[in-house]
Amino acid sequence: MIIKSEAPEDTRKIGINFAESLKGDEIIIVSGELGVGKTHLIKGIAEYFDIDSKEVNSPTFTIMNIYYGKITIYHLDLYRVSEEEAEEIISEIEGKGVIILEWGEKLNPVYFDNVKYFIEIEYDKELNREIKIRGLTDV
Ligand SMILES: Nc1ncnc2c1ncn2[C@@H]1O[C@H](COP(=O)(O)OP(=O)(O)O)[C@@H](O)[C@H]1O
Ligand SMILES: [Mg+2]
Repeated sequence: MIIKSEAPEDTRKIGINFAESLKGDEIIIVSGELGVGKTHLIKGIAEYFDIDSKEVNSPTFTIMNIYYGKITIYHLDLYRVSEEEAEEIISEIEGKGVIILEWGEKLNPVYFDNVKYFIEIEYDKELNREIKIRGLTDV
């Protein structure tokens, strides 16, 4: 499924709609260039679960942010970490929740067996965004 987004607000709403399909224990990869809107999409996902979207920021330096709402969201930004470090951090997550990985495509593909959705955000020619959501079942 590919959805066009012409504004940050659109991307947030796409996140809200997508979140409806989540049960609360999935791993999701959100991929795309710096500044394309990954965090905005995640703000929408968080909002659906009654988390204040202002709390949601790229954990570029902290590596992982945890948000508590109707469910728990573990939001990771793997941009600065090695594959080994990333896998270690993920394996240490305790408790149920949705794990959302910015730059998660860095992980060893073996790891993808546990990934439920792969979301890619790209710029189109007018610098709007195209958001492609793939469930593992349609790969
Ligand atoms: N259609 C759009 N969707 C999402 N963000 C957009 C869009 N158009 C412009 N922007 C801007 O692009 C930036 C995206 O930032 P962010 O979500 O932090 O990206 P990333 O996490 O991919 O680095 C924000 O400054 C936002 O205002
Ligand atoms: Mg980000």
